[in-house]
Amino acid sequence: MHKFPQAFLWGAATSAHQVEGQNIYNDWWQAEQGHFLKEASHSACKHYELYAEDFAIAKQLNHNCHRFSIEWSRIEPSEGNFQPLEIEHYRKIIADLKSKGIEPIVTLHHFTNPIWFSQKGGWAKFKLQRYFLRFVDKIVREFAGQVKFWITINEPLVYSSHAYLLGAWPPGECSLFKTAKVTLNLAQAHIKAYRIIHKIYRQKALARPMVSIAANLQAFEICQPTLKNKLAAYLRNKLYNFYFIDTLLRAKTLDYIGINYYGRNLVDARSWRIRDLLLRTCQDNHYPLRKNSLGWDIYPEGLFKLLITAKRYNLPVLITENGICTEDDDLRWDYIREHLEQLQRAIGGGVRVLGYIYWSLIDNFEWDKGFAPRFGLVHVDYQNYKRTIKASAMKLAEVFKSGEI
Ligand code: BGC
Repeated sequence: MHKFPQAFLWGAATSAHQVEGQNIYNDWWQAEQGHFLKEASHSACKHYELYAEDFAIAKQLNHNCHRFSIEWSRIEPSEGNFQPLEIEHYRKIIADLKSKGIEPIVTLHHFTNPIWFSQKGGWAKFKLQRYFLRFVDKIVREFAGQVKFWITINEPLVYSSHAYLLGAWPPGECSLFKTAKVTLNLAQAHIKAYRIIHKIYRQKALARPMVSIAANLQAFEICQPTLKNKLAAYLRNKLYNFYFIDTLLRAKTLDYIGINYYGRNLVDARSWRIRDLLLRTCQDNHYPLRKNSLGWDIYPEGLFKLLITAKRYNLPVLITENGICTEDDDLRWDYIREHLEQLQRAIGGGVRVLGYIYWSLIDNFEWDKGFAPRFGLVHVDYQNYKRTIKASAMKLAEVFKSGEI
């Protein structure tokens, strides 16, 4: 038995578009109306209406923090037209969490943009970052007194690569040049947002906030020890895992490192072509691992390895997402337990860890994959929106209570 540190943050995450429902003013909703995506989000989990019920479940499961996102397109459905009623909605959400003893961890950008913003050119235009920064300024002024932990941008590289390189997410583009531009734009936006947030806390004489991004890190393991694979793994690690973090750290704009970790990427670069070096993964099953229902490799040790690598930053780390989509709830529990063991191992190795946030509190809309993948600790029946707590959630609740695994 190993104890986690005192005051450890224990919770689960959601994002607005994936759970709220009826986010009719964002670019995902717009894309869902065409033939580009296989399923539309519709009412999602009706979390916009049912949040208090969901947070009551989180409390019952001993969560002491909850990560969620504020939907920019609700707050500003058309340019400059801020909605006081929607701001009140999120004020109620934060108040409800706090009344239940649950620390709010607030994400300001989780993959979606207001339609008007994307119509102007979205993140592919540097000059448009000012709109996001105006939204950040507005929200942080409203909630500074209630919120300590902020995540400016969720998985910037997942967003830029899916939306601008792989063409899988709106706006569905396939351009390496634009991907690089969007990535840079997001980095600049974070750096400025970080400074805005800290400035507001200083002006209001509030204790320093904790501001970061949620970075998606993958365990890049090589399939065969060839030169191509070694170079490919080096590049992926450098560019995909650490480029963004390094850039933000040079600007001194991270108070902790938010890490989203899911599993292994088995590097198999068969040629020197840039696409192969950066993207090709092994499809032969010669190092078979257990998989989630989307076919992603389960690799708990990868979490330990990445955390040990991140130790060089000398900053605390928060696991902002870790989770599995599966119909097999025993496998879910094994996944969670094994990742917590690796987390414990990293803590033993000297990594400062602030907490562990499971993805996700409830089953939800998994972007271009639709509703089929079920990541939740809580099952959602999409016919009647009934919530049912899964056995894995109860086991995790015991860990959250005792603080040991
Ligand atoms: C994202 C979530 C997503 C999850 C599972 C992360 O990349 O932040 O929005 O649902 O992974 O794919």
